[in-house]
Formats: sequence, structure tokens, C-alpha cells
Amino acid sequence: MCGIVAIVRSTTPEENGSESLPEVLISCLNKLEYRGYDSAGIALGRVEEGGASLVDSDTKRPTIERFRAAVSTRSLEELKKLLEPIAHTTHAPTGNYNRGIGHTRWATHGRPSERNAHPHQDCSGSIAVVHNGIIENWRELADELTATGHHLESETDSELIAHLIEEETSDVDLLEATRRATKRISGSFAIAIMDANSPNSLVVVRRLSPLVMGTGKGICMTASDIPALLGLADTYYVLEDDEIAEISPDSIRVFDLNGDTRELHPILVSWDISAAQKSGYDDFMGKELNEQPTAIKDTLLGRVATNGSLTMDETRIDDDALRDVDKVFVVGCGSSFHSGLIAKYALEHWARIPTEIDISSEFRYRDPILNSSSLVVGVSQSGETMDTLRAISLAKSSKTKVISISNVVDSSITRHTGGVIYTRAGPEVGVAATKTFSTQIIALQMLALYLAQLKGLLYPDEIKTILEQMRTLPDLMQIALDRSEKVLTVAEEIASKRDLFYIGRNTGYPVALEGALKMKEIAYLRAEAYPAGELKHGPIALIEPGTVVIAVATRGRLWEKMHANISEVKSRGATVVGIINDEDDQTASLVDYALFVPRTPPLLDAVVDIIPLQLLAYHMAKLKGFNVDRPRNLAKTVTVE
Ligand code: G6P
Repeated sequence: MCGIVAIVRSTTPEENGSESLPEVLISCLNKLEYRGYDSAGIALGRVEEGGASLVDSDTKRPTIERFRAAVSTRSLEELKKLLEPIAHTTHAPTGNYNRGIGHTRWATHGRPSERNAHPHQDCSGSIAVVHNGIIENWRELADELTATGHHLESETDSELIAHLIEEETSDVDLLEATRRATKRISGSFAIAIMDANSPNSLVVVRRLSPLVMGTGKGICMTASDIPALLGLADTYYVLEDDEIAEISPDSIRVFDLNGDTRELHPILVSWDISAAQKSGYDDFMGKELNEQPTAIKDTLLGRVATNGSLTMDETRIDDDALRDVDKVFVVGCGSSFHSGLIAKYALEHWARIPTEIDISSEFRYRDPILNSSSLVVGVSQSGETMDTLRAISLAKSSKTKVISISNVVDSSITRHTGGVIYTRAGPEVGVAATKTFSTQIIALQMLALYLAQLKGLLYPDEIKTILEQMRTLPDLMQIALDRSEKVLTVAEEIASKRDLFYIGRNTGYPVALEGALKMKEIAYLRAEAYPAGELKHGPIALIEPGTVVIAVATRGRLWEKMHANISEVKSRGATVVGIINDEDDQTASLVDYALFVPRTPPLLDAVVDIIPLQLLAYHMAKLKGFNVDRPRNLAKTVTVE
């Protein structure tokens, strides 16, 4: 997830302390490191005595100095080296640095490289921008801009913003030009803009992506997150959606996108840096679990055309070839395998394509029947899992169509496959997958819809309806997340148990598998998942008084048959925890503990139903005092067989 920072400060030595502006910006970016990044950059502006922009001696125009680096070592060392010659410049005869913008980039559009690193500039070099978010209509905008003569230097969607602002600056100031340019953008963004011709201020604007602001003596700053501001600001504010602000050392002017004045309200910040990096959560897993609604929104962004149809040219397979696909194989490990199991129902129901889901380490060695009409989808959040990479190589050697689904741009899997669908969940630090898992489900289900669209199996209005239903999921997930306290009370009740059984039917079965995996991974309990109908063929022998059975019994899932299965285990003395839809009193009356979730449209229930199971594992692990971010014996990225 990208991080942005922007600072404008007075040039009075008494107000600035001993740190130069480049040093301050680097230290702010350091404090955003936890967001993960693969490149970083800074742009700086100087003013002469009297406050005018410093003019370049060759071009005779005000300048912006830009420093960018791809940071392979995942540290800011490369960028610091570039800044060394000016790092300690506080008061130079050549003018004082009074404003700057900085960025840590987590690639979503275009590979990690210096060329794609922010800040990006317009054709004239007067405007520099840093951006966090996703510009949905970037294709149209790129065509429009190139048609009007702009030269786009990078592969990013972010660069377009600098050129859009350039188009508007001829007769208005930076604030107004940015306001006009913002109206042409759809998607999510937090943007900070510096203009060589506006020597004493910066402009910032946001929609959906976070942006906080802070003021201190002779300094005004803004950043993606509070840690960057700690120690520098004494008053904090949040810029709301569709607000635009002009910041200078001693003032902030805020407007809405119609140009009407808005008021800023201070917020209380009492976090230290470690708590702030986890947005106030105790650990990264807690934070990432709660980021799932936003992550899903980002997965959905930019893939729906204005007429409501899906556009997924990122598969890099032409439409006719995709129409020919007669068999899909999804391969992955751990949670990635489970996301495939869930998506199988959508691939077969919507796209009517026979689908097999394989564990990568099994697929590699089982001589699968592959040909040019097969489509193999490698799913890996890290993009580095050795077994999945090998499974992909096997598919490629069989001349099969291959794409990947990954969360990491330019990871190994994305280099091995022509097309990639990125999940855009942002970096996941906790070892147990949460937001990468739910976004994989949505990415795979969008692929299923896309195949159905190409094959003409669903009417355009049916596709539109399903996509609209998908867009309601973040709100439904949020409701489930808001019930964490209730899940904690159930965790307290069953905390002493060592063995847990999870049961479900239809997509509820892989949801049960994933819930059990979370419980094993972080709470170290024996948790086994079964298709509920299989209970009587063996596992029921293990049910005795007090055994905990967790039943995924939401409405879509052969609901009445689940009632029978719950009764089977209840009559043998099991303590049953039910994942149940709101207002389903009938199922609630059968179980010992009901964990309610909102009802979701058919086939889309997994991302909501998994939330209480993630929370249950999380609370159980915390009650036992385990480190949920770094469970024993497990690695986030498994690069060995
Ligand atoms: C490890 C992680 C799991 C993950 C699995 C597959 O075991 O701990 O959380 O699901 O690898 O990883 P991948 O990066 O390929 O999705």
C-alpha cells in the first residue's frame, strides 16, 4: 500500500530545528515503512530570500528537484544515497528547501522501477505529484492525454494526474487546476501536488484513500497515516472524501470539489508510533482483518466499464481464446487453495466450465490432462510459493493458457504468466492470510463472471446485478467485523477445548476449511473441517459430550440439510457454534452459540461468513497469549518445496 507525505514549512531557522527538509521527509517515509514498498521518491522545492521560487540557472524557470529509487532491499538506503549531497542543506546560499512531497510505492500499475516511482511530473516539469490509490478510468484518460500531445513517461495510472493538472494550469492557480482535474478522475486517491510556480504552498485532495493532516509551529503536513506526523505535528485533522486543501506553513484552506469552503475539525491522537503503525490495533493481523472491506473495494475498482460490463484485459488472453476454454484448473496452497475451492462454485455455475481445484504440490505430480483449451489459474498472494510456481511451469510446458492471481506486483508468478489479476489488498504482514484470502475469492469470482460474459451465458443485466451485489459486500463485511466482541465472548466459552470440528455444505465447506486452518495456524488447536454430509461416514465417531462443532449454517448453504447435521452432533452431546444469518431464529434455536452475519446474495457469502471464523481464531490465539502475527513454524512466503 503506497504511503504519501507532504510538508511545507517556514524557512525561519528558529522554527525548523536542526533537521533539513530532506532529512525530515526521509524520516516520515521511514515511519510509513510498515505499509510495505518497492520504490520510493521525493520532490523538493526551494525558495530564495523573500519567498520567491528558486529559478534554474539554465532554464530560467522555477524548478523542482526530484529523487527516485527502486528499493530492492526494502529499505530507504538507495534513496538516502541519492539525497546525500543535499541531505544537510538547511540554509544554503542557493535557497532554502521549504516544501517537499514523498512517496513509498507498493506497485499496482506497472512494475517496481525508478521510472514508475513517484513523484511523477507533467511534461513541463513544473508539477510533481504523489498518489496513493487506483485511478479507475486511467485507460480513457491516457488516450485523451496522449491525443492532446502529452508524453507519458511511466506505466503508472498516477502520472496521469500531473498531466491532467498541467492541462488546467494555464489560466488558474494550482488549487483550482487540481479541483478541475480531480473532477475528471474516478477511483480512489490521496494526492499531494507541488507546483514550481507556487512557492509557498502545496495542494492535497482525497477520495476513499486515507489522508491525515497535522500542523505544528511553522509547519503544515499531510500523510497517508498518523505515524508519519508523530513528533512533528501538535494538532491533527482528517481530510474528508472529496475535500481539497491548500496548505502553507501557517494556514490550511479546505474546500469541497464545487469550490465551497469546508471546515477542518481537529482529532485526538494519543498513539505512540508502534500503535499508530498498526492503526491502533495490537497487531497486524487485527489491522489486516479489519481492512478487508476496503481491500475488496480496491479489488473491484477499475474492472467495471461504465455500461456495467466487466473489462479484464489484464488476463492478456484474447477473447476468442478465452471463449474456447473448456476446463479450468485453479492451483494454490493453503488459503489460496481454499479461495479456489470457493470460486469453483461460481466458475461452474456462472461460466458453466468444469473446474478442478488442486493443491499445487499435488497438481505437479499427478499428470493432469492439459491441452490448449485448458486454463490454469495459479493463485498465490506472495507470488513466490515454490510449489505453485512449479505447477505453473508444468502447465506452460503443456501449451495451456495460464494466468495468475497475486497480491504482489512483479512477483515471480506474475513474471511466469502472461496475464495477472492483482488482488490489490495492500501488503499483508500477518502470516495467516486474511485480506489476501478474501480478495482472491473476489478476483476469481470476477474471472468467472468475465468468462460467463464472453461466452454469452449471462445477460448483461444479470452481470450488472451481480457486480452491484459484489459492491454491497464491503458494507456487509463491516457489519460482521463490528460484531467482534460477541465472537470474543464465544471464544472465552470454548477457550479450554483442544479439538474442534468445522462443518459446512456447498461454499460453506471451503469456508469451514479456511476457518479451521486459521485456528490451527494461530491458536495451535486441532481443528478439522468436513463437508457436513460426510460426518456420518466417519468423523461422527469422534463426537462426544463437550466436543465443539462449528457449523457454517447460513441460508444459501443447503440450509435445511445443515439443520439435520447440527441435530446429529447435538444429540451426541456436541457444543455447537453456528454461523447464522441475521433473523434466522430457527437455526439459532438449534445451536449453543449463534454468531450472526448479514445475509448475502447467492454465491457471494464466503467473504462475509469467513469473518466470524477469522475472528474466532484470532481471539482464541490472543486469549492463549500467542503471537498472532508470527505463529510458530510458519512462514509468510514458502519458497521451498
Ligand atoms: C503459507 C502462508 C499461508 C498461505 C500459503 C500460500 O503457508 O502461511 O497463509 O496461504 O503459504 O501462500 P501464497 O503466497 O502462495 O498464497
